[in-house]
Amino acid sequence: MIVLGIETSCDETAAAVVVDGTEALSNVVVSQIEVHREFGGVVPELASRKHVEAISMVISKSLKDAGVDFGDIDAIAVTRGPGLIGALLVGIGVAKGLSLALNKPICGVNHLHGHLFAVWLDNDQMEFPFVGMVVSGGHTTLFEVRSPLDIDVIGKTRDDAAGEAYDKVAKLLGLGYPGGAIIEKLSEGVSPDGLRFPRALIEQGNLDFSFSGLKTAVLRQAEKVFGIHYDRSRPGSFHQITPEDPSAEDQRTIRKIAAAFQDAVIDTLVSKLFMAVEIRKVSRLVVCGGVAANQALRNRIISEGHKREIKVILPSMSLCADNAAMIGARGNFLLQEGIVDSLGFGAKSRW
Ligand code: KG4
Ligand code: ZN
Repeated sequence: MIVLGIETSCDETAAAVVVDGTEALSNVVVSQIEVHREFGGVVPELASRKHVEAISMVISKSLKDAGVDFGDIDAIAVTRGPGLIGALLVGIGVAKGLSLALNKPICGVNHLHGHLFAVWLDNDQMEFPFVGMVVSGGHTTLFEVRSPLDIDVIGKTRDDAAGEAYDKVAKLLGLGYPGGAIIEKLSEGVSPDGLRFPRALIEQGNLDFSFSGLKTAVLRQAEKVFGIHYDRSRPGSFHQITPEDPSAEDQRTIRKIAAAFQDAVIDTLVSKLFMAVEIRKVSRLVVCGGVAANQALRNRIISEGHKREIKVILPSMSLCADNAAMIGARGNFLLQEGIVDSLGFGAKSRW
């Protein structure tokens, strides 16, 4: 089955042509990062507008790259949620139009399930059950996946997502947006020198996450070193604490704080992940989402998995961040089970 996948849940406009849920013939992603960078985060209204501008071109390119045309498509899979409503509605509206015009079935896909199923595009022999962790800018969620249609949430963040914490900490350290890859690079080979931030909720049996206290601990540490700078124009917002033109000494301090922050995030994610594997008595795990591109995190998970004889499955880098191939892969499973939506379905901000 040839599925056209469409994804517009946040700040990437994406389309892909996927065959049998396991092979992406194309995977086109247009990122809006440049548009949102000056605001230090995704601005929902701008995201919707940019999706409208890009979607037709992105879909045309996905067909062209795959060497197919609309007549070859058997079905359409589109992200239904969770995500920004206005952004989701752009993809859903276009997908419904195509479904009607081509007279092909359509299926709404859960974005997080899409992330979990991205690994099928690298490995066509996936086995169940497994524990899955989606760790991105919007989500930090643990799943137990017993079969393609039997998926439960077993833990999630009570406040910020891990990627969101990376982005906010990068902002207060004056490092730019999005923060994950920047903090990873700055932390490489840096010892936090005894600086240690709290790991929240790591008591045995608790599979939920919390990153808001960590983010505040980093803020307090930065204030201790660099002084308190209130941005009165934006009360409550996370703003830059570090000097505009940091000295070499300031830069060393920033790197230490970044490294100590990353250590706390990785420790927390890894301890919860393996706690879930133990509690649910599974022997495989999948980690996906934008933060799963972090090599230090990947290395820790691989070495812990090796020690405990747990099979670790990580998507390739290009499939970690938001893309439509994962939506096509997940949609293929649903469609094969006869799960098709009528044209009346709407977007879901939470799911
Ligand atoms: O999955 P994704 O592309 O979009 C969402 O659905 O959120 O994830 C984006 C998030 C951002 O918060 C970004 O800072 C984070 O993933 N990220 C990383 C890395 N690359 C991206 N976090 C840590 N280390 C990285 N290398
Ligand atoms: Zn995502």
